[in-house]
Amino acid sequence: MDTFHKKFLWGGAISNVQAEGAYRTDGKGLNVYDTFEVQKEKGQKNINKVDIASNHYYQFKEDIELMNEMGFKACRFSIVWSRIYPNGTEEGPNEMGLDYYERMINNFLEKGIEPVVSLVHFDMPDHLSKKYNGFYSREVVDFFANHVGSVVKRFSSKVKYWITYNEMNTAPYWPKLVAGANVPDNFSQEEFYSTLVHNTQLAHAKAVLIIKKWIPDAKVSGMINFTHVHPKTSEPKDIEAAHIINNYMSFLTFDIMTTGRYPRYYKNFLALRNIEISDSKGFEIIQEASRKLDFLSVSYYQTQVISGPDFKNQLEFENSVIFNPHLEVSKYTKSTDWGWAIDPKGFKMALEALSERYNMSIFIVENGIGLEEKVDELGQIIDDKRIYYYKNHIKAMQDAIQYEGVQILGYLAWAPFDFLSSHKEMRKRYGFIYIDSENVTGDKLKRIPKKSFYWYKNLIETNGEIL
Ligand code: BG6
Repeated sequence: MDTFHKKFLWGGAISNVQAEGAYRTDGKGLNVYDTFEVQKEKGQKNINKVDIASNHYYQFKEDIELMNEMGFKACRFSIVWSRIYPNGTEEGPNEMGLDYYERMINNFLEKGIEPVVSLVHFDMPDHLSKKYNGFYSREVVDFFANHVGSVVKRFSSKVKYWITYNEMNTAPYWPKLVAGANVPDNFSQEEFYSTLVHNTQLAHAKAVLIIKKWIPDAKVSGMINFTHVHPKTSEPKDIEAAHIINNYMSFLTFDIMTTGRYPRYYKNFLALRNIEISDSKGFEIIQEASRKLDFLSVSYYQTQVISGPDFKNQLEFENSVIFNPHLEVSKYTKSTDWGWAIDPKGFKMALEALSERYNMSIFIVENGIGLEEKVDELGQIIDDKRIYYYKNHIKAMQDAIQYEGVQILGYLAWAPFDFLSSHKEMRKRYGFIYIDSENVTGDKLKRIPKKSFYWYKNLIETNGEIL
């Protein structure tokens, strides 16, 4: 039996705002990634320039050609919101932005690569963040719906696979970049958390309904970053903390999306904190969208372990776990230079947990490893660590399919080529293709396929047989 079905969508994923550069070109407005003030990660020397990034804006044809050479069946990318609505509040879309993505989509289709479009990925117009506090405000949900409507209408005959919102579950945890929001003064974490949970669900749901209205046979999904958390020890408080954090940091998003209502544990969370979300119209929309969801998308990078705090009082215990979790890398796993656990077994278990809870097909739309790399004297990048990472993770996914019957639609590696990290760093490289930001030929940045490029090409060619 072949573990990977014939139409398995092998490929890669990109966040365009981290790759394109050209940040004021063709009418584009500033967005939250452009203006986000990065707190340097450990060892980070400089903040790379978002105005150039990987120069993908001008070199996308070359990049797509290289993806084609690897045999990609699908590529996930994002349509940068602030290219379509520069301020977010305009009456109509910026046609230059739509034209640009049309050229890109046409190029994917000509190569037989299925475009998988994300509608928001760290790219909310900065104006919406500054003036309305992003998705903390309901008005921004409507502005988002305008963006979705313009994009979906324009590409209705060309794009079948849609991801409404990148890593929506992280909105309350990383609010500025993911939701364009900051905690308002005198506001409790609980209220901020529950407002963002509700408004982002509404944004997702509206997007689902718009997509299905214009493209009835579209394949639509919501997306989370699934960092599956395990108890640090077998002490009951660690086990309980793991249960709580997985619910609130990850599952809650899919629990609501797939059923159209708040799960019981979350209703109790709100009631015990005297929080009321009154929005009957919104709940109807969320409910209707839940019936139209086709699959679930996840990014997976790592697992973590948690130790439960010492609070005796249950409310304090929960609050501490949800809003101030003590997360670490397990002593049994190795980690990257950025302290992210390398845990293929954890990947298998994460897939199984999702499959068991939701019984839906899963699309892995991000998985990969960030490494610091240099071109060697022979002009090559021998990234054996990346190959090793992919081999073990893809094998783990294969085991989840084979031993647990998990339904997987496809696997999109992060990333086809190097681009800036979420912390605007080129030093943390994820690509199969090296972007030589020092080496400019004319007005282009040089691309060099790494060793992993050929390994992944071979993997796709054999539909995973080389594993
Ligand atoms: C995901 C995001 O969280 O992880 C990406 O969707 C991001 O945009 C990726 O780049 C890897 O994280 P980082 O911080 O290493 O860039």
